Amino acid sequence: METIAIGSDHGGFTLKERLKALLADAGCEVTDVGCHSLDAVDYPDIAQTLVRVLASGACRRGILICGTGIGMSIAANRDQRFRAALCHDEYTARMSREHNDADILCLGARVVGLGVAEGIVKTWLETPFAGGRHQTRIDKMRH
Ligand code: RB5
Repeated sequence: METIAIGSDHGGFTLKERLKALLADAGCEVTDVGCHSLDAVDYPDIAQTLVRVLASGACRRGILICGTGIGMSIAANRDQRFRAALCHDEYTARMSREHNDADILCLGARVVGLGVAEGIVKTWLETPFAGGRHQTRIDKMRH
């Protein structure tokens, strides 16, 4: 059973709580790194906490949610060990796995509705990395 880390700021809190149920239904264990209410928090703090969980080896993949998904994706991509992809539909979710081997899915809770977000998460969970030429390209981003 895969453990998925999930985190949000206040802008993504409600969607995070809904997606935790979907992850459980999909057979995933969930590690929730916060936030735990609608009180305002700073998205870089949450992104950094989730990245630390991934770096510890406790989880291989994670989901980060803020209002737009932009702040979370910028913050998570500051750590060169992981690739965070901001996805707004099932196509970008599938490609972020097939071509980019994204370890972190970022979502904008003020951009996508619950139904779209659920489709994105399901697709992202189920799509494997294609490897081959895409691995070569990923290797070129390592410093
Ligand atoms: C918080 O209001 C908002 O700035 C945040 O959720 C996110 O959209 C930042 O990128």
